[in-house]
Amino acid sequence: MAALLIGGGAAAFAVAWRPAIAAIEPPAPKSFDPALVKRGRDLAALGNCTDCHTVRGGKTFAGGLPVPTPFGTIYSSNITPDADTGIGTWSQAAFRRAMRSGINREGQHLYPTFPYDHFTNVTDEDDDALYAYLMTRPAVHAPTPANQLSFPLDQRFVVAGWKLLFLRRGTYAPDSAQTAEWNRGAYLVEGLAHCGSCHTPRNALGAERAGASFAGGDVDNWNAYAINARSPSPVPWDTAALFSYLRQGWHPDHGVARGPMAEVVSNLSSVDERDVHAIATYMTSVFGAPTPDQMRRGNEVLAKAKAPAVPASQTEVPGASIYAAACATCHETGRPVPYGGVNLGLSTAISGPDPRNVANIVLSGIRPVEGERSPIMPGFANSMTNDQVAAVLNYLRSRFSNQPAWTGVEKTIEEARRTQTVSLQTSPPPHNAPADPTQRDKP
Ligand code: HEC
Ligand code: HEC
Ligand code: HEC
Repeated sequence: MAALLIGGGAAAFAVAWRPAIAAIEPPAPKSFDPALVKRGRDLAALGNCTDCHTVRGGKTFAGGLPVPTPFGTIYSSNITPDADTGIGTWSQAAFRRAMRSGINREGQHLYPTFPYDHFTNVTDEDDDALYAYLMTRPAVHAPTPANQLSFPLDQRFVVAGWKLLFLRRGTYAPDSAQTAEWNRGAYLVEGLAHCGSCHTPRNALGAERAGASFAGGDVDNWNAYAINARSPSPVPWDTAALFSYLRQGWHPDHGVARGPMAEVVSNLSSVDERDVHAIATYMTSVFGAPTPDQMRRGNEVLAKAKAPAVPASQTEVPGASIYAAACATCHETGRPVPYGGVNLGLSTAISGPDPRNVANIVLSGIRPVEGERSPIMPGFANSMTNDQVAAVLNYLRSRFSNQPAWTGVEKTIEEARRTQTVSLQTSPPPHNAPADPTQRDKP
């Protein structure tokens, strides 16, 4: 792989060079139109800029978040208007170039951890609104830590080879056969909202696999499920369910968004509702119409979930007694939110391809969203041993899905315990929609 990259990098060397764009005096915040700034604020939420550019408890947009990749750790940049350590001296043209082509003001290539393979679809107008928003934030002096990459990947020109292979430049071209709403959704999903950066599997060089869009990917030890025709969801998704999940963070037939997806929906709860609806509309067509088989299974699972709970029979199956004692009280009694969990027959996590997400949920629980009547589940990391968690996971899989048993459950649980502590240290702070909806419109 390294050889391929060196080869590609060398071949691309001639085209790798990009000129610096002259530094400017940081523009006065007053010079930006407030309406443009406000639009930029919504666009930044749609693009999850804070999730990567803010460390937990740190200053907003000051960067320094370590983003782990299979190639090493890349630190997000300070994108506040600080002249020394941020983008204060970047002109609008320099910012547009970074979003469109992944090149910094000095002319160096940026690593595609910054999802410019999607941001390249963003229009100049939207880039200018983002620029206005960022340039009117408080400047924070915070040098970005050096990346931890080994040679040759630590050489930024190598990225030029990657771009030749994988970067398709150009803004989103609307499909005239589709509605305006569908096109708006497609523009956002494929561009700024970069849904595929988590939900599409990647190849050995870290690029999204062509022809496998939305077929399921990995992020921070979570499985970002397939959200196309291969969706493992027991109940097929429709536009209304997608809208509710993306806007409110949950839906009664699908449960709650957790982990990295919780951050995404927390951002989506603060933007123009019509944009979230457009995303749901476009994603419905990406999922495609469910097959008769998927419909039948969905109806079966829903009917079972709504039927009165049968008292758990005394079985000898390992895990069954733990489930009956520790879980069924919330998951099978039809209790209302915040303590009522979905019937686990509806859970995508349990029907998913691997046990990572369920392990994360059972160990860490689900934290309430501040100021909202949102679902709560306790974490069992301190009260259950790995063997007990494994027994419950295997039991859930056999009782609540029609899929074959998972392999490597024990290893997954160890890994989940390990990354749990890491993510507690590094994940960005929750930035939920302000409780007062009128606050939403204030940039
Ligand atoms: C998935 C994580 C992620 C998201 C989401 C993300 N970025 Fe970044 N961004 C990064 C990383 C990592 C870098 C540093 C790349 C490098 O050093 O090559 C970066 C670099 C940048 C840079 C270059 C700064 C410099 O000094 O070179 C800009 C500008 C930027 N991001 C803006 C944005 C904006 C605007 C958004 C939201 C629309 C955004 N980013 C969303 C991870 C992210
Ligand atoms: C930072 C990574 C990330 C991004 C970006 C992201 N997702 Fe997700 N998504 C996830 C993860 C991880 C899960 C699984 C969460 C869970 O188990 O609760 C998920 C779950 C989902 C689900 C639930 C699927 C099911 O069957 O339960 C839907 C629908 C979804 N995402 C849609 C989207 C859309 C649409 C976008 C873009 C607007 C998006 N995601 C962007 C990581 C991401
Ligand atoms: C205090 C009530 C409570 C207890 C006890 C509880 N849960 Fe939960 N659980 C919830 C709530 C609330 C949710 C979030 C709503 C949802 O997604 O179902 C949830 C979600 C889940 C999910 C995700 C379902 C999905 O949407 O994919 C799984 C899996 C799960 N719980 C498993 C367990 C297991 C296993 C136990 C016992 C070891 C347990 N829960 C104990 C309340 C509880």
